[in-house]
Amino acid sequence: MTAQLSKKSEAWSARFSEPVSDLVKRYTASVFFDKRLAQFDIEGSLAHAEMLCATGIINPADYAEIQRGMTQIRAEIEAGQFEWLLDLEDVHLNIEKRLTELVGDAGKRLHTGRSRNDQVATDIRLYLRAAIDDITALLQAFRLALLDLAEQHADTIMPGFTHMQVAQPITFGHHMLAYVEMFSRDAERMADCRRRVNRLPLGAAALAGTTFPIDRERVAKTLGFDAVCRNSLDAVSDRDFAIEFCAAAALVMTHISRMSEELVIWMSPRVGFIDIADRFCTGSSIMPQKKNPDVPELARGKTGRVNGHLIALLTLMKGQPLAYNKDNQEDKEPLFDTVDTLTDTLRIFADMATGITVKADTMRAAALQGFATATDLADYLVKKGLPFRDAHEAVARAVRTCVDRGCDLTDLTLDELRTFSSLVEADIFAVLTLEGSVAARDHIGGTAPNQVKAAIANARQQLR
Ligand code: ARG
Repeated sequence: MTAQLSKKSEAWSARFSEPVSDLVKRYTASVFFDKRLAQFDIEGSLAHAEMLCATGIINPADYAEIQRGMTQIRAEIEAGQFEWLLDLEDVHLNIEKRLTELVGDAGKRLHTGRSRNDQVATDIRLYLRAAIDDITALLQAFRLALLDLAEQHADTIMPGFTHMQVAQPITFGHHMLAYVEMFSRDAERMADCRRRVNRLPLGAAALAGTTFPIDRERVAKTLGFDAVCRNSLDAVSDRDFAIEFCAAAALVMTHISRMSEELVIWMSPRVGFIDIADRFCTGSSIMPQKKNPDVPELARGKTGRVNGHLIALLTLMKGQPLAYNKDNQEDKEPLFDTVDTLTDTLRIFADMATGITVKADTMRAAALQGFATATDLADYLVKKGLPFRDAHEAVARAVRTCVDRGCDLTDLTLDELRTFSSLVEADIFAVLTLEGSVAARDHIGGTAPNQVKAAIANARQQLR
């Protein structure tokens, strides 16, 4: 009994008089998901040990032993040979235990002036910083792919919609640039979040700091943090940086979801604006003719889980008194899944953007339906001196006539058009073409092809 007891409660030692049940052990352990923090845990431990040595808290021989042991542990983990034990609860205790096995007392000295509370907070920040850097690079690649698509179609006309009704002609390039703008703001949000992620909790120890003469600035510098967390209680207890990241991630997914919705609609045979390369689609097990846009549909669906993770973390935090509570162990799975989902989605979308074929003729035909240039006729009358409200009314009557006759505004003769307003002259027909309509919206942010091309050049400049 005593032998078993000492084995099962190894990490906590003499304080406990009975071991936890297997269920409690499984319930409280995190090793099976937090082991993915291992490389960051080692990086943080090595920086801590370097500081302990530099400040004379441990001696150089111990530091050298810790480095030797950690090098081996790293290799064991990378080779998949490291034995993760549920008994040792989490990634931190597993690695520390193995270190002590390998280097003896030096391993036992590593935890001087530190607690798992500031250790885990440091690990998550290191992990998240790396994840943000990956995501930032993927957002960049995705935007470059969208810019290529926009450039190929700076002049390709499609109907622009409001309320899913044909509104005004736009170019497909302009439509793609709208997404470039969204993903640019997403990248800004990631960069902003990174600044607050990149602060060092180590040194806070359990909650109050430590009695050892530590040098936190030194550890921050070693680990590439911009600053140290300035209050020990806050350092170990808040996960606002992770929540902020999840909020930024939820917005990226929301933008991807809106784009997915459009891709799905555009690929429907009833619309037929685009085709998506086969490698992003699947067939049906029963209907041989089907080609389904699974990737955009799944991305739209996965947005739900990412949004859910944001709410999970907010809820996790809201009831916690200061400082660290075990609740915080629950931050990892939502955070990891957010990173994984976003990373995979962005990687696939950057590739998929190169696999979109635009069916310009179908888009053009759709833009010719639904009186997309009616506003242009109204604007024309205004430029001839008619107040806008009167112009709107005159054009509404013209549209009504065309609806009754089943024709387009451009099918009316000059004389017929003049029955709605005597201000109409022969130059109206150029105004009512799709090309005339888009070219006329010639200002920053407008859909005129030359503006689209300038916006693409500008965006490329920003992305360099
Ligand atoms: N596995 C824990 C976590 O993820 C590490 C910190 C544990 N600290 C503690 N006092 N039990 O949060």
